[in-house]
Amino acid sequence: SPVGATGDGRWRPEVIAHRGASAYAPENTLEAVDKAAELGIDWVENDVQRTKDGELVVLHDDNLRRTTDVEEVFPDRAPWKVKDFTAAEIARLDAGSWFGPEYAGARVPTLEQYLHRVERHHQKLLLEIKHPQLYPGIERDTLKVLGNEGWLDRWHTRRRLIVQSFSADSVRTVHELKPAVKTGFLGTPAVADLPAYASFTDQINPPHGSLSAGYVTAVQAFRGAHGRRMEVFTWTVDDPAAARRVAGFGMDGIISNAPDVVRDAVGG
Ligand code: G3P
Ligand code: CA
Repeated sequence: SPVGATGDGRWRPEVIAHRGASAYAPENTLEAVDKAAELGIDWVENDVQRTKDGELVVLHDDNLRRTTDVEEVFPDRAPWKVKDFTAAEIARLDAGSWFGPEYAGARVPTLEQYLHRVERHHQKLLLEIKHPQLYPGIERDTLKVLGNEGWLDRWHTRRRLIVQSFSADSVRTVHELKPAVKTGFLGTPAVADLPAYASFTDQINPPHGSLSAGYVTAVQAFRGAHGRRMEVFTWTVDDPAAARRVAGFGMDGIISNAPDVVRDAVGG
């Protein structure tokens, strides 16, 4: 069934917890996944990067400063880039205290740990390949971990997984390596360019501020990489009025730090 279809005949967008339920728990941690589950949100979004020793971890910025205590633990390692630390080093960092003392001891999860937690809650994953220009080959690495963890079977690829990126090259690479995987492009390409995007992506996922009903309808008129109509997931909407505005465009998904607020606003 298409994204957004409901049993009562009303159309409602999917609601996706951005970096987990990141208004309430530290972004991109297992705690933020738990919080989304607790709120009854079945989609989570995350950001995937690669360590110095080739492990995939879940973190947004290309450096560890904002969301961990890296400067205290490794004072001599400026500029504290993710790619310059091993997985074992990153595992020592506190990724929760910056958000609030009740989250002290939260960790930067590996992608593997993250997938286990999402699976445990029977949730779905909008996985973003972050800063792919810093990590040549990260598309293949990501698909390898997804495959090892059972996320590339028919059940997951049809219903539970979307891989997205701001990099069209990255999205195209994922599509070419594993055509079964549903993909999303983050951005707002010109309508004239949509046929080219439709050859490798199933979704166009723009920021909500400049979005119009006309653009959403134009995207949805195309058939995407899997022959079904293209979808639009927009980000990052935390305000009820903004949520109602974009839901009125016939949005397929709304990505939010406060997914419970959006769900309540759109009548979920
Ligand atoms: O999923 C959309 C959104 O996450 C893209 O922006 O910077 O939060 O990763 P960013
Ligand atoms: Ca993201």
